[in-house]
Amino acid sequence: MHRNVPFYRHDLAPQDAARIAEVLATPMLTSGAVGKSVEAQLRTFFGVGHAGLVNSWTNGAVAALLALDVGPGDEVIVPAMTFIATANAAELVGAKPVFVDVDPDTLLLSPAAMRAALGPRTRAVIPVHLYGQMADIGALRATLDEAGRQDVRLIEDAAHCFEGSLRGERPGARSDIAIFSFYATKNVTCGEGGAYVTNSDEIAERMAQTRLHGMSAGAADRFRQGAYRHWDMTRLGTKANLPDLLAALLPPQIDTIQARLARRATLAARYDAALADLPVRRPALRPDALSAHHVFPIHVPPAIRDEAIAAFNAAGVAVTVNYRAVPTLGYYRERYGYGPADFPVSYAWGEGTVTLPFFPAMQDADQDHVVTVLRERIVPLCKRAA
Ligand SMILES: Cc1ncc(COP(=O)(O)O)c(C=O)c1O
Repeated sequence: MHRNVPFYRHDLAPQDAARIAEVLATPMLTSGAVGKSVEAQLRTFFGVGHAGLVNSWTNGAVAALLALDVGPGDEVIVPAMTFIATANAAELVGAKPVFVDVDPDTLLLSPAAMRAALGPRTRAVIPVHLYGQMADIGALRATLDEAGRQDVRLIEDAAHCFEGSLRGERPGARSDIAIFSFYATKNVTCGEGGAYVTNSDEIAERMAQTRLHGMSAGAADRFRQGAYRHWDMTRLGTKANLPDLLAALLPPQIDTIQARLARRATLAARYDAALADLPVRRPALRPDALSAHHVFPIHVPPAIRDEAIAAFNAAGVAVTVNYRAVPTLGYYRERYGYGPADFPVSYAWGEGTVTLPFFPAMQDADQDHVVTVLRERIVPLCKRAA
């Protein structure tokens, strides 16, 4: 029983190379007209006032924290079950990430857990739309308001949720800013990249600077119509702008996102049906949520998780782990003294989770192979551990 099933494969086509060639024919390969038109496309897609491209979620988040004046001495609340980047962004601007355990069913940041972690130094909260399901931004905002904390900023980690929604609302609708990732395995990708959306004119104006050193004008604007204009630097920024070479890959993916989401939903439903009678756990999906179905993680008994990964690999199936509880990883454990007992839900999930191959271009036969390996190789391991 062997068939090579990759964890992920992008579905960009040869005509995408032509889009890059068009940029090569222009004089400046950095951020310019292509990026601006993608930003307009994003504003329409999300129905927001402002959108900007960045060269990664992480740099976008650093730019956002700088734009919101979050820095040394400040605390930023983040869920313990996420990718390290969510916490790293706070750490990189000198703020302290305050980890909060996640809801045991959805694995998302709950309003109650966030409220319990609020302190006098809290300046921002970064809820994560884990695996494509949105955290309840409206409820988090309402909880902050009830607590009299209108000063606390909400920054959505929408790296997994470009096309998802909750009660019909998309990322960016209720937060200060939502940030997406266009990393290689994301639902919209240009290899490395990202974007932010916001309805705040003030935050948009600041982001335009903090994503580009803090400069008051980007390259395209500095050289407009051949006339050089001086620029100023009034706040500190990072270098987070996305070059047109990469931005050129985005428009067709945004145009076809609904069709690819439908394929993701079909694949997820096929996995769910095949797993229904197996002893593996899945995160709960709220009935009012439309998931972006970014990845497909399952949970097996922690005692056999690594054996399960080896068994998948031996049968040709590439899997990964999203994620181990961030505060229990070496850097955060040593810096802040966190341990597994501090985040029991995130830790238990992180020790038993395995992410299965999942991408729109995946063939049914590939998925069938994964399910067969699960039934024949993984379930016996689970039963032994039970
Ligand atoms: C939840 C989450 N946040 C942030 C990031 C960071 O994204 P990027 O690699 O674009 O910086 C990722 C990337 O995998 C992620 O999964």
